[in-house]
Amino acid sequence: MKHISVLLNETINALNIKEDGVYVDCTLGYAGHSSAILKRLKKGKLYAFDQDEEARKFSENKLSKIGSNFEIIPSNFVNLKSELEKRNITEVDGIMFDLGVSSPQLDDASRGFSFHLDSNLDMRMDKKNKLTAYDVVNDYPYEKLVQVIRNYGEEKYAKQISRNIEKVRKQKPISTTFDLVNVISDAVPFKYKRLGHPARRTFQAIRIEVNKELSILPKAINDAIDMLKVNGVIAVITFHSLEDRICKDIFRERSKEDELVKGLPVIPEDHLPEIKVLKKIKPTKEEIEDNKRSRSATLRVAIKQRRM
Ligand SMILES: C[S@@+](CC[C@H](N)C(=O)[O-])C[C@H]1O[C@@H](n2cnc3c(N)ncnc32)[C@H](O)[C@@H]1O
Repeated sequence: MKHISVLLNETINALNIKEDGVYVDCTLGYAGHSSAILKRLKKGKLYAFDQDEEARKFSENKLSKIGSNFEIIPSNFVNLKSELEKRNITEVDGIMFDLGVSSPQLDDASRGFSFHLDSNLDMRMDKKNKLTAYDVVNDYPYEKLVQVIRNYGEEKYAKQISRNIEKVRKQKPISTTFDLVNVISDAVPFKYKRLGHPARRTFQAIRIEVNKELSILPKAINDAIDMLKVNGVIAVITFHSLEDRICKDIFRERSKEDELVKGLPVIPEDHLPEIKVLKKIKPTKEEIEDNKRSRSATLRVAIKQRRM
C-alpha cells in the first residue's frame, strides 16, 4: 500500500509531542502520521480514527510493530468526543486531521473515487453507509444536483452537467465512473477540457456529498478544540478551499480577543483568547515535486491557551 504522508515533519513538529501525552489522529489512513506519533510516545497513548476498514486493518498491523500503546477506533471522527469519553478521555495533548481520501483509496478501482479508473459509482469511505455516488447521480433531482456540484465542486458548469445527467439517466442509469466522465465531458465546452480533467470538480463534489465531508467538519474541529488541554495543539491538513475555509473560520472565531481587555499591554490569563493561531504552512517545492497530491495542501495549527 503506497500512501505518501503530506506535511509529515511539519505536522509532527507542530504537535510538539510529549512522551507521556495523549494524542489523537482523526484520520489514521495508512498510519504515516500515526507511526511518527507513536514512535515518540513512551508512557503516552495514541487514539486513531478511521471509517475505512481496509485502512484500519493495514494500520493496525503497521502500528503494532512500533508499540502497543495505541487504539484504533472504527468510527467517523464526527464522534470524536463521545468515543473518547467512552474511554474516560476528557482532555488530550494533541489532535490532528489529514482530511480527504488516501492514495490507496483513490487507486483502488473498486472504490469508485477516481475518474481515471473505470468502476461502479461508489465513493463511500465507510462501506456500511447507505448513500453511494450511484444514488446521488441517479436519484437526486436536478436542483439538488446543481447545488451539490456547484457548492462542493465550485464547478461553473454545474447546471449544464446536471442537465446532461438528467437527460442521460432517463434512457438508462449512469452506473460507472466512466459513464459519468462521458456525461460530464459531453456537457462542458471543448475549451474547458484544456484546463484540466473536466470531471475533477464534479467527482470532488459527489465524494463530499456521499461522505458528508463538509457538513461534519465544523462539529469535529470544534469538539477537537474543546478537548485540548491548555498548551495542547490542533493540526489540520486540508486539500481544498472549502474545507480550508471551514477550519480558518473556526480558528478565527475561537482566537478572537476579549473586547474587555483589547489593547492592554498584558492580557490577564482568564481573558486570553481560547486558542492562539500559528502561521499556516504549505508544502515545500521539493515535497510537491516528490508528491503531486501535496500541492493543494495547507496545514493550520492552533494552540489552546484557555479552557472555557
Ligand atoms: C488523507 S488520508 C490520511 C493519511 C494518513 N495521515 C497517513 O499519513 O497515512 C485520510 C484518511 O482519513 C479517513 N477519513 C476521512 N474522513 C473521515 C471521517 N470523517 N471519519 C473517519 N475517517 C475519515 C479516510 O478513510 C482516509 O483513510
